[in-house]
Amino acid sequence: MAIVAPSFLSANFLNLEADCKMINESEADWFHLDVMDGRFVPNITFGPMIIEFIRKTTAKVCDVHLMIVEPEKYVEDFKKAGADILTVHEECCVHLHRNIQQIKSLGMQAGVALNPHTPVESLKEVLDDLDLVLIMSVNPGFGGQKFIPNTLNKIRTLRRMIDERGLSTKIEIDGGVTLDNAPVIMKAGADVLVAGNTVFKSKDPKDTIAQLKKITR
Ligand code: DX5
Ligand code: ZN
Repeated sequence: MAIVAPSFLSANFLNLEADCKMINESEADWFHLDVMDGRFVPNITFGPMIIEFIRKTTAKVCDVHLMIVEPEKYVEDFKKAGADILTVHEECCVHLHRNIQQIKSLGMQAGVALNPHTPVESLKEVLDDLDLVLIMSVNPGFGGQKFIPNTLNKIRTLRRMIDERGLSTKIEIDGGVTLDNAPVIMKAGADVLVAGNTVFKSKDPKDTIAQLKKITR
């Protein structure tokens, strides 16, 4: 069964409470929260304050995806806001090992995200320390983009690396996930499916989540 993480980027920000309620009543496992700074990516979203409010509505896992430069400056703020999993981009971290340890030392699970051009092999030396690897299947910055097919090769390679080492590191796929491509993404070796538009723009979001949930490896 897939771990399903609806992305709030596609939620209705005028009525976030209703969308939180919908997710809480659904079979979704995680809340996927996209933080963008207008520097690493060409878009600006929200920060710890909004996450703190969302946190209060839910007992589900808060999966925070930081698309910001110098994430080390804000790790504590996101801990205080209630993040369970904190994911930083490999491309933003000069001292990635240190950043991972910082996240873990505060009691959060640590994730690293990879842009489409960044090989999964770049995590070879830190993989054992990671709870999660987020493979971007679109260029980060916006919801509603088209899935980049080469992502499937990256998932297969990473799956092999994780299994060879006997790790429990999860593979999360983010961007352009649909009901059509989710089965092949899972077959390739993914654990977690992020879905923004597919969930929030569907006629029956709860049912869409239930359908994603059913997809197995
Ligand atoms: C994009 C974000 C994604 C985004 C996915 O940079 O990281 O989480 O919301 O949206 P969809 O599922 O619509 O591609
Ligand atoms: Zn994301």
